Amino acid sequence: MNSLADPNVVEVLDRLHREAEAQTPELRKRMAATREGGQMTEDWPEQMRDFYLPVSREQGRFLYQTVRAVRAERVVEFGTSFGVSSIYLTAGLRDNGGGILVGSELVEDKAVTARQNLAAAGLAEYTEIRSGDARDTLADPGGLVDVVLLDGGPGMYLEIVELLVPHLRDGAVVVADNIESGGEDEQPYAKWIRDPAHGFVSSSIVMKGGTEYSVWVSGTGVSGTKVSGTMQHSPLHAVVGDNRLDIDRRLL
Ligand SMILES: C[S@@+](CC[C@H](N)C(=O)[O-])C[C@H]1O[C@@H](n2cnc3c(N)ncnc32)[C@H](O)[C@@H]1O
Repeated sequence: MNSLADPNVVEVLDRLHREAEAQTPELRKRMAATREGGQMTEDWPEQMRDFYLPVSREQGRFLYQTVRAVRAERVVEFGTSFGVSSIYLTAGLRDNGGGILVGSELVEDKAVTARQNLAAAGLAEYTEIRSGDARDTLADPGGLVDVVLLDGGPGMYLEIVELLVPHLRDGAVVVADNIESGGEDEQPYAKWIRDPAHGFVSSSIVMKGGTEYSVWVSGTGVSGTKVSGTMQHSPLHAVVGDNRLDIDRRLL
């Protein structure tokens, strides 16, 4: 079963990637206004309200692979935008036999469109897109989390991952986008997640704006008890290992 080959999913993803690519020239012009002294401005989500800023097709497939490889049932996404990454993630959930993506989007109109795009792809039933600030909306993800995508602005990654750690199942995967985008925002997160004292084993993957792939290996779940029967040595993890994978160097 591969929902990425489902004609509905293919059609919607093709349309969304095409529309996003068409925005690239305008996006490049506008990007400068969202940076101040190496950091993203507080109002950048509002400035980017009409822009997709999606994961690349390669990243999308990688997210699908991750959801399948760890047999995820609950996925959390920080930064849903118009739902491109959500489609790849929920396609994986459907092919796993079911599950739920808890998405988050600050800009209400984007959340509304994301829900419509997921419905058009036939994946709405695996999705709960929460409107508002992820620091509030993701405080309770509703159960043990198998996969997390951080894609809502690197300046907030550390805060969001600290919020989610108590909810991670053993072997949970955290994928963080734009980790080497050239700003200073991502540095506190990268430093923290790569420190084994914090319970993760983490690797950098050269894909789009730099992707950090981190596996929660502390062996505890919500209640602080060992969660058994999880897959810590999936084929995907073996492939990533400690090496940097040169998958896709494109920036946008
Ligand atoms: C890079 S885009 C996400 C792209 C999306 N993952 C995809 O592949 O289509 C980042 C999104 O995060 C949203 N965002 C920024 N800060 C947020 C916050 N505090 N809570 C929720 N969403 C936020 C922005 O509005 C923006 O739409």
